[in-house]
Amino acid sequence: MSTDLSSYFEPKDEQQDLHALSFSETALGMKASKILTISYSVRERIAAGADVTQFTVGDFNPKYFPVPNLLKESAREALANDQTNYPPADGLLELRTAVRDHYERSFGLNYPVSSVVVGSGARPVLYAAYQCLINEGEKVLAPAPGWNNDNFSQLVGANLVSIPSRPEDGFMPTADALRPHLEGARLLVICSPMNPTGTLIRQQQLEDVCDLIIEENERREAAGERLLYLIYDHVYWMLTFGEHKHLTPPQVRPKMARYTMFSDAVSKCFSGTGLRVGWMVAPPHIVAKVKALMTHMGAWAPRPEQLGTAALLNDPTAIQGFLEGFLEKLQARLNLLYEAFNQWKGEGLPVDVIAPEGAMYLSVKIDLIGKEGFPDAESVRLMLLEEADCAVIPFDCFGDHVNLGWFRFSVGAVGLEDIERCLPKLDKALRAVHARLNG
Ligand SMILES: Cc1ncc(COP(=O)(O)O)c(C=O)c1O
Repeated sequence: MSTDLSSYFEPKDEQQDLHALSFSETALGMKASKILTISYSVRERIAAGADVTQFTVGDFNPKYFPVPNLLKESAREALANDQTNYPPADGLLELRTAVRDHYERSFGLNYPVSSVVVGSGARPVLYAAYQCLINEGEKVLAPAPGWNNDNFSQLVGANLVSIPSRPEDGFMPTADALRPHLEGARLLVICSPMNPTGTLIRQQQLEDVCDLIIEENERREAAGERLLYLIYDHVYWMLTFGEHKHLTPPQVRPKMARYTMFSDAVSKCFSGTGLRVGWMVAPPHIVAKVKALMTHMGAWAPRPEQLGTAALLNDPTAIQGFLEGFLEKLQARLNLLYEAFNQWKGEGLPVDVIAPEGAMYLSVKIDLIGKEGFPDAESVRLMLLEEADCAVIPFDCFGDHVNLGWFRFSVGAVGLEDIERCLPKLDKALRAVHARLNG
């Protein structure tokens, strides 16, 4: 026998208010992700039969981008060997040691193993860092556009201050833009290579920001004030193109090791978004607190996947072999789009584009906002969707209300043939709009 409980969940009018009253302010303050809202509406359009090219999702289609074989096979073997009990709250020693060695090999940074804590992807360790450092009302600085800083800030009651950016700086925060906001700030978040822009922070930009943080913290250390920390979210760090090279704060200023928390994962660099293995590398006293919180959150990575990740990180040749093909496919997609927009720009169409530097994203400007029929980014987004079957995300979904007209094109879910089918439609739509506006 089974009791149907659904009638208990149907809200009566007065009960609905009571339910709303029963939520915490944190729960009531949570906002639906605009990116997901757009992705769902695009999915509906596809389900209705439209041939939409999905540039909206920050995920990989495993058909084009499978995870490294060594990771898959090692995880499979671990599961077959009954590696199914609880992992330690800070992660298996095998994986923490492998991360430590991987960072030493890749960056020449020699961290103790006690600097590494593992989580089920980058999100839980990022959230835990916010939770462990920020009191309600304290200031968090993050550039706009940026990824998810608004949501993490809301969850811990932080006062998020968005730092405006410029395309000529690759949308990265500069020391000059940050300086006026330093007072009382507890956390600065930098993401490089960046979601949503596909750009990397330059060495000089990074050095200037590091000098600013060190100077501010030396002042605070002398005055006995709470420190300013840097989250350096580099989940895309192996995905860089051409002469663009990833750099980390402690490489340019070793003292930054005291203030830097790295977030990293297999999600992007190894195309394993669904495997849920990530980690933080940070000063040991911060890692110890994050571990304590993770003990209660239980956001641990599954044991077989931890062992699979350890096997991969311990094999630099396998990593290299994987990355060669992976980067080639990503770059081919990004370049195809880049070349097309660059050509349209040269022909005088109202577009701009930044050459791909890293990650899986391209920054494209469709310069129509303010022109007849285009009051905002949403109207431009809908034109691209309806006239060119091209689904993209405007930068305002990443908290950027300054760089109007810029959009993120994400290429992890599309094949070259999808882009080739979309380009003539984009060409036609852009020329038609241009002709209409220019009489
Ligand atoms: C910049 C950035 N950091 C972190 C994450 C989260 O990674 P994970 O899926 O490992 O939680 C993402 C995912 O989109 C991201 O773009």
